[in-house]
Amino acid sequence: MIDGINTTIHDCHIIQLRTVLRPEGKLTIIQNEKFDLKRVYYIYDVPEEAERGYHAHKTLYQLVIAISGSFSVRLKDGVREWNVRLRDPKKGLLIRPGLWREMSNFSVGAVCLVLASELYSEEDYIRSYDSFLSYKKCIQ
Ligand code: TYD
Repeated sequence: MIDGINTTIHDCHIIQLRTVLRPEGKLTIIQNEKFDLKRVYYIYDVPEEAERGYHAHKTLYQLVIAISGSFSVRLKDGVREWNVRLRDPKKGLLIRPGLWREMSNFSVGAVCLVLASELYSEEDYIRSYDSFLSYKKCIQ
């Protein structure tokens, strides 16, 4: 586990999830993916113009998957940013602690599945970008 203060966008990446392909359909397995799972939630029925996220977490690891449709994720570490479009249910975006995320451009019918390493705790959130920059020590 790494400290959220020192993480950068380079600590986040796309994980290819093992998938069993059959003529009867596909089956994707999420198992032992970088952290122990404590919580699962999913986001859906997102209006086209809606933007979500706009926060960071101090300790939480997340794996984000577009299990249906597509949406864009922007990750920021206070210096750099990485924009990625998730559209493949066989791929998960690993977000380590200490990264600011913004989610937008949800397609009609998009479902965003999130696997999380901790139970919900509002204390783990940083919801102001200025506070995030202070936390990352980008502002003296
Ligand atoms: P939030 O994490 O801010 O979602 P998003 O970044 O996608 O907009 O959560 C939205 C609301 O839902 C917020 O009031 C907290 C609540 N919530 C829970 O109660 N439990 C949870 O596990 C999550 C993820 C959110």
